[in-house]
Amino acid sequence: MVNDNDGNDRDAPTGRAGGWRGALRSLIGRGDGEGDDEVGASAPPPSPQRRGNPARRARLIEALIGGLPQPAIVLDREGRVITFNQAARGVAPALRSGEPALIALRMPELVDAIRRAGKRREQQRVEFFERVPLDRWFEAFVTPVTLPETDGTQAELLLMTFNDLTPLRRVEEMRADFVANASHELRTPLAALLGFIETLQGPAKNDVAAREKFLAIMQQQATRMARLIDDLLSLSRIELNAHLPPNTAVDLVPLVRHVADGLQTLARDRQVDIRMALPPEPVMVLGDRDELIRALENLVENALKYGAAGKRVDVALSRAQTRAGAPEARIAIRDFGPGIAPEHLPRLTERFYRVDVADSRSQGGTGLGLSLVKHVLNRHGGRVSIESVLGQGATFTMHLPLYTAASPAS
Ligand SMILES: Nc1ncnc2c1ncn2[C@@H]1O[C@H](COP(=O)(O)OP(=O)(O)O)[C@@H](O)[C@H]1O
Ligand SMILES: [Mg+2]
Repeated sequence: MVNDNDGNDRDAPTGRAGGWRGALRSLIGRGDGEGDDEVGASAPPPSPQRRGNPARRARLIEALIGGLPQPAIVLDREGRVITFNQAARGVAPALRSGEPALIALRMPELVDAIRRAGKRREQQRVEFFERVPLDRWFEAFVTPVTLPETDGTQAELLLMTFNDLTPLRRVEEMRADFVANASHELRTPLAALLGFIETLQGPAKNDVAAREKFLAIMQQQATRMARLIDDLLSLSRIELNAHLPPNTAVDLVPLVRHVADGLQTLARDRQVDIRMALPPEPVMVLGDRDELIRALENLVENALKYGAAGKRVDVALSRAQTRAGAPEARIAIRDFGPGIAPEHLPRLTERFYRVDVADSRSQGGTGLGLSLVKHVLNRHGGRVSIESVLGQGATFTMHLPLYTAASPAS
């Protein structure tokens, strides 16, 4: 590292700033007019001795690329490594100063780019993909840099910088998947609707019984499309607000009661008994009431639909503590149905993920419910946890930070 106590800097008449300017000048200044004017105006011309100090130059380059957040490697014109920063080790752990870069950078695209940049003296950009140890995408720039030497010659270097494109690629993939899934989910009921319309216009034109039957199915399919669009819009609204934590104090006791009451009809339909365990005193959280209702409804509805065989659903509201010791509110929804196999658990909150697609569809499901629950809880600074043993039902728990007098009502 270059530091303030560098002898040359201390000698510079303009002090520290002047020393830096002089140093930069020795790296970038000379022939090209504009740089000279700007830097030269306030700094004295660098002494020849300072200009030509290769160790000092190396330290400067090191300090500069050391300050870059992205991986950077400096090569000489033969492609040997002069220096590199800490971040570069993440891309090429085998880097060694003085060794040819292609020993550490095995990607043929990179080796080609270095060769091209050296030959043409033009910046080269390449993308490459790494499979081991993890799937990662990078873009690399190889930029020729020319430095003046004391004897009037020039040192030609190559600066390599890297950007990790992996997060960007993941988002792109997710978006493409999402659009494909959403279109597919909409196309299925739409195809059914079109089919029935055609039948009603043609073969079944005067068949009253068929008309009744088909219209009922058409209504079901149209309802499913409407629900899907509703869920998609809710999801995108929650995601838009994800960075704004809700700030209204909400009592969960009446909220849980409200949701359970609203689902009594479905419960009777499925012959399931909803049992509630509510504390006598209020349980307050900072929340968005509508979003919390939506999330809880989804979980109780799932328990009633997929766990109906157990004939019983327990909804329990309690106060507890997080592992870190912070007070939290918990709403546990437990059913006694078939449960969920462990391999599905980690993926359940993904959009459109369903254990049994046909079963979910026949129940009017969209596969978006648990994803919605996850987003609502994230926005509230909480989380959802899922426990299940095959054959013994499932417990979905909403965890929310408890609002106490001491909590910041941000
Ligand atoms: N209580 C439960 N018991 C068994 N399986 C469940 C339960 N809750 C959810 N699932 C499974 O998780 C899937 C995703 O649920 P969800 O995201 O709410 O979508 P949807 O209910 O629209 O299908 C369901 O299709 C179902 O396979
Ligand atoms: Mg659901």
